[in-house]
Amino acid sequence: MSAGTDDAAPRDVEALAMSETQRVLVVGSGTMGAGIAQVCAQAGMEVAMTDVSTSGLERGLQGIHRSLAKLVEKGKLDAAGRDAVLARIATGPDAGAHAANADLIVEAIPEKMELKLALFRELSAKAPSHALFGTNTSSLSVTEIAGASVDPARVVGLHFFNPVPVMELLEVVRGLATSDATIARALAFAGAIGKKAIVVKDFPGFATSRLGVMLGCEAMRMVEQGVASPADIDTAMKLGYRHPMGPLELTDLVGLDVRLSILEHLHRELGEQFRPPALLRQMVRAGHLGRKTGRGFYVYDAAPKG
Ligand code: CAA
Repeated sequence: MSAGTDDAAPRDVEALAMSETQRVLVVGSGTMGAGIAQVCAQAGMEVAMTDVSTSGLERGLQGIHRSLAKLVEKGKLDAAGRDAVLARIATGPDAGAHAANADLIVEAIPEKMELKLALFRELSAKAPSHALFGTNTSSLSVTEIAGASVDPARVVGLHFFNPVPVMELLEVVRGLATSDATIARALAFAGAIGKKAIVVKDFPGFATSRLGVMLGCEAMRMVEQGVASPADIDTAMKLGYRHPMGPLELTDLVGLDVRLSILEHLHRELGEQFRPPALLRQMVRAGHLGRKTGRGFYVYDAAPKG
C-alpha cells in the first residue's frame, strides 16, 4: 500500500467489501451450489444461481426449499422470511448472462480442471473489474484456476462444507497471486454470511480435505479387510471419538464420486497414501454414490435428504 492510501485502513476495506458483496452469482446448483446460494440469500444478498442442467437447477431449488422448511419448522425463520429468501434467488442456465452484475462469483461446478478453467476464462472477461471470484474446489489448485482469469489477484478459494447452511467453517484458500485485498474481502464475506473463516495456503487438499478424506479412505480399507462392518466403524468414531457422523456415513453424505475424484487428485499430487480403495471405485462404477442415488455404504429412502 502506498503512502497516499493511508486512509484505507483495514476496517475501511472490510466495510467496502461488505457493501460490495450485494450481488452474488453462484455457478452450479448441486448440493454445494444450492447451499451457498441459500446462505447468501439468507444474509440479504441478491443471488443468481445458474446451472447448465435445467433438472439440476430444479433439484437445487428443491434442496433450498427443504432446507428453509427445516428452519421454519424449528422456528428459526418465519414464512415471510422464507419467502423473502426465496425471492432473492433468481435461477437460469447461463452464468455469462449474470456475470456483468455480480460483485462476487462463486464457482461450484464439478471438480474438473478443464471445466473450471473455461468458466473462469469466460466469466472474468464479462464480470465488472471489482468482482471477486471464489472457487469452491475442495482440493484442486486455486493458483491454476486463477491462471485462467484476467486478474488472478481477485481469485480465491472459498471452500464450503456440507450441509452449507449448518457447517460453520469457510476455508479461504490463498492462491499464489491472490492479493491481500482479496483475502480481506473474502473474510468480510465470510462474516457477512455468518461463517468462521480460516486462511490456508494453496496446497493439495488444503487444511480440511486432506485430513477428512484420509479418514474416509482408511475406513473403506477397513471394510475391504473385513475389520468391522460400516455401521460398526461409524459407531466407533461417533461414540469413541465424538464425531457427529462416522466416516462412511459422511462419505455417503458428500458423495462417493466426489470423494473418489478428490482421492485421485491427492494420489497424483501427494502420493501413495491417497490411492483410492478398489471398493470405492467399484461402488462408483455401480452408481452407488451415496445419499443422492439412494445407495452407498447404506441404503436410503427414495428421496435424497436436503
Ligand atoms: N439445512 C438447514 N438445516 C439443517 C440441514 C440443512 N440442509 N441439515 C441439518 N440441519 C439442521 C437441523 O435442522 C438441526 O437443527 P437444530 O440443531 O436446530 O435442531 C441441526 O442441523 C442438526 O441436524 P439433525 O438433528 O437433523 O441431525 P444431526 O444432529 O445428526 O446433524 C449434521 C446432521 C449437521 C449433518 C451432522 O451430522 C454433522 O455435522 N455431520 C458432519 C458433517 C460434515 O462433516 N460435513 C463436512 C463434509 S466434507 C465437505 O463438505 C467438504 C468437501 O469438500 C466435500
